[in-house]
Amino acid sequence: MRITALAYSVIDSTDIEAWRTFGEQVAGFSAHDLPGGLALRIDERAGRLFVVPGKADRYAASGWEVATEADFTEAKRELAGHGVAFQQGSADEIALRHVFDMIWFLDPSGNRHELALGYATAFDRFLSPAGVPGFVTGQLGYGHMVLPAPKITETRQFMIDVLGFGLSDILIHRPLGPGGPEMRIDFMHCGNGRHHSLALFEGEVPSGCVHLMVEVPTLDEVGRAYDRMLASGTRLMATLGKHTNDHMTSFYMMTPGGFALEYGFGGRTIDWDHHVLFESTSVSLWGHDFSVGFGADEAAALADAA
Ligand SMILES: [Fe+2]
Repeated sequence: MRITALAYSVIDSTDIEAWRTFGEQVAGFSAHDLPGGLALRIDERAGRLFVVPGKADRYAASGWEVATEADFTEAKRELAGHGVAFQQGSADEIALRHVFDMIWFLDPSGNRHELALGYATAFDRFLSPAGVPGFVTGQLGYGHMVLPAPKITETRQFMIDVLGFGLSDILIHRPLGPGGPEMRIDFMHCGNGRHHSLALFEGEVPSGCVHLMVEVPTLDEVGRAYDRMLASGTRLMATLGKHTNDHMTSFYMMTPGGFALEYGFGGRTIDWDHHVLFESTSVSLWGHDFSVGFGADEAAALADAA
């Protein structure tokens, strides 16, 4: 199966206006009302995040791009061959996402994935209300996301065997420190040089997502977003830092969806023909103190459980 890139994400929301405000004033996306939902633009496409009315605030679906009719037909044939029950996207869903066609299915951990053929756009110039000059997208896709995968082994194999992803590297996370219980994160790539378009986190996440990542072209834009986060009272989830595996320099902040947005710069691209699978034994080269946000949540959960 040939998946070229992460095309979009869909988010269920009880408060569309909260996403409009966060998107425009903090993240620097442009917000556009469409039939069926709010599109948040970060480039020339009609939307990269689609926020739709829902009963809860949670991540709903990941949209994976398929470039040609032939690849789309082949993808459906392969899904059927693997016994994966997939559904045809509705006309309304396809219209909102601005794609030619779409099918969807669940992975073994219950995450919804959509395969989307092509895209439609007016190619209007992206104009950020916050003055962000642009985001790093194009062939690399719009960014990456980390999804909960309680069944991480089955889910990883599903992504590799059925969807054609590759494993970039792995991280063994010990949220309670050395000697504590281990949780695995698998970083995975699809048909482009972005180090990972998807990561799988070995655990349950009520909001359906650990974080999304968008990338800006300069470190100054990361700093300006950090200033907007502080000015707006948005919650910091992890301090500025640089990741060991994808070299992204970033910080994390909370979104209205109950999951974080990583706002980064300088992610490396990989030549997959010359890449060797590795395990990172630390999350970051420097910075990224997750205890300020994610760690506080874990401490509260442990206190509740006690
Ligand atoms: Fe990330």
